[in-house]
Amino acid sequence: MINLKSYLVSKRKIINEYIEETLYSSSKSTPIVSAMKYSLMAGGKRLRPILCMSAAEAVGEKSDIVLPVACALEMIHTYSLIHDDLPSMDNDNMRRGKPTCHINFDESTAILAGDALLTLAFKMLSSSKIKNEDHKKLLKISGIIADASGHKGMIEGQMLDISSEGTVLSIEELEKMHNLKTGALIEASVYSGAIIGGGTNEQISSLRIYAGKIGLAFQVADDILNVDGDPEIMGKAVGTDTHRNKSTYPSVLGLEKSKIFAEDLVYSALKAIETFDNNAEPLRVIARYIIERNK
Ligand code: IPE
Ligand code: IPE
Ligand code: MG
Ligand code: MG
Repeated sequence: MINLKSYLVSKRKIINEYIEETLYSSSKSTPIVSAMKYSLMAGGKRLRPILCMSAAEAVGEKSDIVLPVACALEMIHTYSLIHDDLPSMDNDNMRRGKPTCHINFDESTAILAGDALLTLAFKMLSSSKIKNEDHKKLLKISGIIADASGHKGMIEGQMLDISSEGTVLSIEELEKMHNLKTGALIEASVYSGAIIGGGTNEQISSLRIYAGKIGLAFQVADDILNVDGDPEIMGKAVGTDTHRNKSTYPSVLGLEKSKIFAEDLVYSALKAIETFDNNAEPLRVIARYIIERNK
């Protein structure tokens, strides 16, 4: 059994050092770079880059070859949080234990910092030092990550989230929205790690099933924490979904059934990778962590 806590700590350290190195070495400290750094280094869990690295590990690739791809995913995620918190979106004041980007700087800076992080992510993908024969893989995952982040994925999910405020979604509509707004990028994180790591087609398709399940479970857990989480620990406000009349798993299914549903999703995720060897142990413990976390 791996120790989850030390696994997450060691991966976060590698990821944070790489992100800092990228930002500090290549960018002058302009106001926009300060805003980008502020949100990136505010203390996120780094779940998406960790999943990317763990997926590569699950197919036998233990080097840090996926690191630039993993960090690109974190930049896209951080941009999505900056924009998600804007007054015209969820209008939140706290994120990662700090005032949100638009509160600490101003709204236009926050919009532009988000834009710049999204763009920087693709710059990182295009310049990752990868072996010649892996260039095709890099092109493929650039497309996968673009689809997952854009209007076929996260953006469509965010659009559905905002446009459905005040209405009651059916369980099918809710699942679709959550899969798009959160599941898509989580799936792309695992998918791209598995591709760069050299997984077989069979391994990659099992890992995509795993990722689809934990991606949805992650947002169900986010909805549950918005009801019964501790804002001090989470570093963001709770009760906001009810306040904004959002359809969430607890509001549509009830709290207890939502917890059971999240458990079922993790069970199915684990089932999808049951034939994998010990290299998939981190993915197994992360699946449980996704619904047991308190932040
Ligand atoms: C929060 O994501 C937003 C969702 C997609 C649910 P995380 O819970 O991964 O946030 P950080 O990166 O740890 O701050
Ligand atoms: C965030 O979803 C999804 C994205 C940023 C794409 P939420 O709005 O539910 O997440 P929190 O609760 O603000 O972190
Ligand atoms: Mg939102
Ligand atoms: Mg939000």
